[in-house]
Amino acid sequence: MCGIVGYIGWRDAAPMLVEGLKSLEYRGYDSFGVATGTDRLMVAKRKGRISEQADCVSGCHGTRGIGHTRWATHGLPDDRNAHPHTDCSGRFAIVHNGIIENYAELRRGLEERGHRFTSDTDSEVIAHLIEEAWEGDFAAAVRGVLPLLEGSYAILALCADTDEVVAARERSPLVLGLGDDEFFACSDATPIVAYTRNILVMEDGDLAVIRRGSVAVENGGETVVRETTYIDYDVEASRKGGFEHFMLKEIFEQPDVFQQSFRLACKHHGISMLLSRARGISVIACGTSYNAALLFRYFVEKECGVPVRVDLASEYRYLSTPGDEIVIAVSQSGETADTLSALKKAASSNCATIAITNVQGSSITRAADDTIYTGAGPEISVAATKSYMGQYAAFVGLLAGMSCSDMSAVERSVRQAIEESLLTDVNEAVSLCVGASTLFYVGRGIFYPVALEGALKMKEISYIHAEGYAAGEIKHGPFALLSKDTPAVAVCLPGDGYQSMLGNLREMKARGTPLIGIGYGDDIDLQDVADVCIPVPKGDAYAQVAAVTVIMQRIAYYTALALGRDIDKPRNLAKSVTVE
Ligand code: F6R
Repeated sequence: MCGIVGYIGWRDAAPMLVEGLKSLEYRGYDSFGVATGTDRLMVAKRKGRISEQADCVSGCHGTRGIGHTRWATHGLPDDRNAHPHTDCSGRFAIVHNGIIENYAELRRGLEERGHRFTSDTDSEVIAHLIEEAWEGDFAAAVRGVLPLLEGSYAILALCADTDEVVAARERSPLVLGLGDDEFFACSDATPIVAYTRNILVMEDGDLAVIRRGSVAVENGGETVVRETTYIDYDVEASRKGGFEHFMLKEIFEQPDVFQQSFRLACKHHGISMLLSRARGISVIACGTSYNAALLFRYFVEKECGVPVRVDLASEYRYLSTPGDEIVIAVSQSGETADTLSALKKAASSNCATIAITNVQGSSITRAADDTIYTGAGPEISVAATKSYMGQYAAFVGLLAGMSCSDMSAVERSVRQAIEESLLTDVNEAVSLCVGASTLFYVGRGIFYPVALEGALKMKEISYIHAEGYAAGEIKHGPFALLSKDTPAVAVCLPGDGYQSMLGNLREMKARGTPLIGIGYGDDIDLQDVADVCIPVPKGDAYAQVAAVTVIMQRIAYYTALALGRDIDKPRNLAKSVTVE
């Protein structure tokens, strides 16, 4: 959470920082701020989004600077708590992403020694500690402060007296961009790619001193050489391309994303073989990625008979880790703190580890033994859509290898199902959802994870409370909530459990629940019980999963649109969750 950007070079820093922060807003957008330096520091910061009030930094001059876009953890999202934070003298400014766990104790000590705080954040202690450690050498002061900090941080620091930006990383992402006589330091490469594709990924414990014309990285007091990678990045993907929202554009990219990601995963024969011989497979993930992982479980257990355990990464630390498992960590961003620590726990228990991610060089790729990249390209909307489709495709590709089957027919059927579902009329369903206070999403078997994902999409962008349930479970409690104000979106497709599903729908209908049935267009039993029927193209189970997913994404999107929500940047959320 939170995005940070730093610059030193020949450009005017403030406009570069503003553009950089705009492209990092998906990491948080409660407040923003910039500090630049000449022979003094100039700081501008404010509550709200930089994309709506960029002119507030017009007083910041100089060719070096740091910036921050915030997702609040400590203190309200207001002007005072916006970064950068400065020390008492105004000589130092810092921006920070992460959490300083011992900040309360550090702050008490600093206050006792006469420091005056102007915010409620954990981060401000860093600026005051640098002030205390300062003996004329800026990098040495920052170096001296780091051992005092417990928790996670990516820090950029600026000093009025020295022409440097100092960067430090511990369990929060930070990359450097190496341009022509100019350097960038950012939470990820998104703000940098317009200027250079040469990226240096900092590692935990690294401190970088960035001067005009040179970057020196050290770790534990020793100079280290970090590899520079050239990254591919589709700049076009970061534009809306005529769509009203990134989310809609990304939904429409899914036929290609599925195909591309499926093909990439099919190339990982070695990993598929490893998985098919595994004594056990564990998959760890959060949110939407967790829902994608559940799909893998249903398919693998059915097709290959290999047991798959799927755990929420945030709960993994409380559970046992059998040492002989293969552990797959799934994360769009590759930076989710819980997924990363779960992966590290698995690695330290001697499990073989595999990452499935969408972001080149992200932290989980460096922590895992092997990585499968999805082919989703940059996903800008906070709500995950095409990245989920990419993860699903990666799992189907692995499954093809595990079961030694040629699934090229599946690749075609899924693509076609997605294309058709992009055009399916969902208006009637949206009309039912818009007025609801609570929605239920129900499915059985493979459609249970699809229902979970449908509900998650709906709640995060429309702010309507939505619950995903295994249809068989809904009688065990949630029935008490059913009424005419709680519509249900139900997946009812021929196959395993179809009759039981129809039975569940009739029971819900008897409680007055308006039903949106997603099933075959010629299913007269479904038409009989559902108030609204949404047809799914006929096809195999893989195609059905993709089709229902797209239909649910579109119901959520158009409901949120009708309610006037901020679809690409829903309140309180951030795309990359780098705190536990
Ligand atoms: C929902 C969404 C989140 C993420 C979750 C994990 O649309 O995007 O639930 O799936 O925060 O993020 P990653 O996949 O980056 O680990």
